[in-house]
Amino acid sequence: MKSFEQSRLLKSLPKQFFASLVQKVNSVRAEGHDVINLGQGNPDHPTPQHIVESLKLAADHPENHKYPPFQGKIELKRAAANFYLREYGVHLDPENEIAILFGGKAGLVELPQCLLNPGDTMLVPDPGYPDYWSGAALAKVHMEMMPLTEENDFLPSFDNIPKETANKAKMMILNYPNNPTGAVATEEFFQQTVKYASAHDICVVHDFAYGGIGFDGKKPISFLQVKGAKETGVEIYTFSKTYNMAGWRVAFAAGNASVIEAINLMQDHMYVSLFGAVQDAAAEALLGSQKAAETINAMYEKRRDVFISSLREIGWDVRSPQGSFFAWLKVPKGYTSEEFTDLLLEKAYVAVAPGIGFGEYGEGYVRVGLLTSEERLREATLRIKELDIF
Ligand SMILES: Cc1ncc(COP(=O)(O)O)c(C=O)c1O
Repeated sequence: MKSFEQSRLLKSLPKQFFASLVQKVNSVRAEGHDVINLGQGNPDHPTPQHIVESLKLAADHPENHKYPPFQGKIELKRAAANFYLREYGVHLDPENEIAILFGGKAGLVELPQCLLNPGDTMLVPDPGYPDYWSGAALAKVHMEMMPLTEENDFLPSFDNIPKETANKAKMMILNYPNNPTGAVATEEFFQQTVKYASAHDICVVHDFAYGGIGFDGKKPISFLQVKGAKETGVEIYTFSKTYNMAGWRVAFAAGNASVIEAINLMQDHMYVSLFGAVQDAAAEALLGSQKAAETINAMYEKRRDVFISSLREIGWDVRSPQGSFFAWLKVPKGYTSEEFTDLLLEKAYVAVAPGIGFGEYGEGYVRVGLLTSEERLREATLRIKELDIF
């Protein structure tokens, strides 16, 4: 069979680091071992039933069998605006300040192409969600990494960015609650961000994927709550985590009207919009009962408590995440993150994600997803105890 060569663009894309982890997990499973897989970020519970029911009803509606309106249904945009007002006290104009997305990933990958030109600079957190790198590669833009260190509570330090870099940068990606570190942002940090970004004419893209998951009675703050944020950028809100809707591929961008216009223009050329029934059910998720979202948040908090206290009991001195469903654990001295990941998989049959997969500053850590039951999380810590490392 003739094989067509891939374009230079495709060849320039970063390697999918975690594909090899999946293979390793599968081969240990194929040997018959019961692997506790804490390496991925896929919510383990179904979508709340009232949202599923809403999709079923909407699927019967002939209006939804036609092309949906270009740029998405106004009802979903209004629901998103109501949600931001109710949850964060933020006013958004549904017509001009909200764009419907095929999941947060699509928006994050599209945005550099919407606003930057080849050779431009974008500031990216390290460690961070690897799809930011895909967006940069597709837009042929240069990434400058912003280290997130434990000493600085995993927030970037703007003072450490060289002036020349700041002046060149056109976009900055932030993500709190943070994947992979589980850190949250403070209002003060977002105020600094607005000041810094407006001084250097940088568009801030705040990835709020874990906005619905915050612990210890502290609701994660939205970037848009800070004065001046709307002039400075946009926030990406996905349904994947707050409502266990990862498979539905629905999210929205909210904030600066010129950025929303650019996203809509790009999407006009690529898609029509999401299946109307998915949009109707997404509006139900935002406007209907929030009980299920609260239960989901409480479940992750309980898992965090069980997991972190069990690890501390076996002598692993770990930091407790304040949001997201990830724990970011320092590996014991003498191991790289990959070596420690391999050890856990091969000897304890526990799969975690090596920190180096999230960037250079991820070295020395592993990421654990709290995406299985408390019993399995406890069992994972008991298996790790057997290794007699701590
Ligand atoms: C930090 C972060 N941003 C964005 C996403 C994308 O979410 P989705 O495309 O499901 O909306 C994820 C998913 O894992 C994530 O961890």
